Amino acid sequence: MSQDSHKQDAARAALKHVLPELTPRSILGIGTGSTVNFFIEALAGEKDQFDGAVASSEATAERLRQHGIPVYDLNAVEPPRFYIDGADEANHRLELIKGGGGALTREKILAAASETFLCIIDETKQVDMLGDFPLPVEVIPMARSYVGRELVRLGGDPEYRAGFTTDNGNIILDVHHLDLGRPIKAEEAINQITGVVTNGLFAKRPADRLFVATASGVTEKG
Ligand code: 5RP
Repeated sequence: MSQDSHKQDAARAALKHVLPELTPRSILGIGTGSTVNFFIEALAGEKDQFDGAVASSEATAERLRQHGIPVYDLNAVEPPRFYIDGADEANHRLELIKGGGGALTREKILAAASETFLCIIDETKQVDMLGDFPLPVEVIPMARSYVGRELVRLGGDPEYRAGFTTDNGNIILDVHHLDLGRPIKAEEAINQITGVVTNGLFAKRPADRLFVATASGVTEKG
């Protein structure tokens, strides 16, 4: 089975988990990426079961609207009942690296603001230790060189994501070779650098439930 069919399996399992809890007033937070796109496709068939969604990116907002799902500003609605999103890496404590698609700041806001964070991945994203995937860091453009030097001081090897601007008008540094053995400490240390908007470690606020699609089915953790 292909990686895409696994992503679809994880998305469907999460939808099955969400549906019984929805009411016509429910708001969902929706992440960004190819796995979540499968979730949106499945969710579109159930759009009478909830009110609407808050999107973690302009791309997701556009896709939701194309499926006829109302998109709200986070400030205009009650806290989302669920936030559903993919990840680039997940460890056994449900700590994540996210931001491969560059939407990490809005993703982190939605994860923080939502009642329950469901993460959907295929098994290739499961790791014993975070850090093979370079850690995305969103940075205010004028601070790029300064933040880069500070990330080197932390042991990392930052790479400018050329030609990419986030939905917030910022740049991304993808940081290789960081020691993420203590993910909460690393998340806090990077956030302390002036000019960093946020980083893609989701350790202080990990996922609440992880759906991992494998060749033999979807396993749920958390
Ligand atoms: C976007 C993300 C995505 O969740 C992450 O990159 C995984 O993407 P995909 O589902 O396409 O593998 O954090 O910023």
